[in-house]
Amino acid sequence: MNREDFPILKEVVYNHPLVYLDNAATTQKPQCVIDALTEAYTHWNANIHRGVHHLSQVATAKHEQARQIVADYLGAASAKEIVFTKGTTDSINMLAFSFGEAFVHEGDEIVVSQLEHHSNIVPWQMLCERKGAVLKVIPLREDLSLDIEAFKALLSPKTKLVSVAQVSNVLGIIMPVKDIIEIAHTAHVPVCVDGAQSAAHLQVDVRDMDCDFYVCSAHKMYGPTGIGVLYGKQHWLEQLPPAEGGGEMIEHVHWDKTTYNTLPYKFEAGTPDFVGSYATAVALQYINHLSRTKIADYEDSLTTYLEQQLSSIEGVRIYAMGLKKAGVVSFNVFHNNTIIHPFDLGTLLDRQGVAVRTGHHCAEPLIDYLGIPGTVRASVALYNTREEIDVFISALKRAITMLS
Ligand code: ALA
Repeated sequence: MNREDFPILKEVVYNHPLVYLDNAATTQKPQCVIDALTEAYTHWNANIHRGVHHLSQVATAKHEQARQIVADYLGAASAKEIVFTKGTTDSINMLAFSFGEAFVHEGDEIVVSQLEHHSNIVPWQMLCERKGAVLKVIPLREDLSLDIEAFKALLSPKTKLVSVAQVSNVLGIIMPVKDIIEIAHTAHVPVCVDGAQSAAHLQVDVRDMDCDFYVCSAHKMYGPTGIGVLYGKQHWLEQLPPAEGGGEMIEHVHWDKTTYNTLPYKFEAGTPDFVGSYATAVALQYINHLSRTKIADYEDSLTTYLEQQLSSIEGVRIYAMGLKKAGVVSFNVFHNNTIIHPFDLGTLLDRQGVAVRTGHHCAEPLIDYLGIPGTVRASVALYNTREEIDVFISALKRAITMLS
């Protein structure tokens, strides 16, 4: 799909045409996003919300239009519910600090799942340490799906928040977040959904999902690096204290008292990345223009093809086989009952021009649980093709032969 929009895909790596299958780590950028960055610095760079002059007003308008485009993309009720951050990790850290200050006390509990990314584990661990609270973990069933019955049993009056990924960055599994949210809400517990791996692949609608918070990164959605989003229902954001102090987030500053700005500015201390927000909006419009349903259907067909082709190779073990996935397939290769180290496979694939990620994928608790050193992860985006998957499969077979 629209491969020619992505200039980097013409790169040659070790004399091989690049086959980029590391999209779960970051997606490549279409020319319109690259142009948006240049356009901003060439024509209207000026600090926002501060200047009476023309350029500042243009930059401010672009930034606020971008906020509305993000709100529409996520299905938020209002642009006030969209806080720009540095990315998913920053969003979760902000939430953990801010929510923790307001609502978490000694003995309280936060619930995450066994397959979370470190960025949806460590900020909560830090909060628990700070407050004397306890982190509880939803276990997995044998097929690696979430154990919903065990989740229900974890909830208690001590539970203050549940935070789960919508799509596992390691296994690609789509989580039953709507069920999780409904169950948590029955127990009056708010839910944060980590959308880092889902926002570019699924039809995200935060109101339909009814999550209380949703976080994602632009760089995994064909947008620029260094910018992301913290969505929060307005009534929650209003109750939370700011996570950082500085310019922009204040109403008035006096030596005896500072009052804070309205939403969402209360959470945006300092000069925001207004160039990044503009380029993010361009990326989301690009996705919308191609049609989110068409992208999802296309990526689904690629993922199925990828799984089929991988399964036909002797010794390949695909994790969470049979579960519904969003663009990500993780596997290992066994020879004489011994695992071929994923790093070795990744290195030999790279030498043949194929980019995949290997290792623990920033999810060590899951990798420990699986009892393996890591996995090889291939992840697709809208611009990948079946022909590229064929190249990947041939390169993998060659690597296995070399390492067996
Ligand atoms: N979270 C990113 C990944 O899964 C970096 O690769």
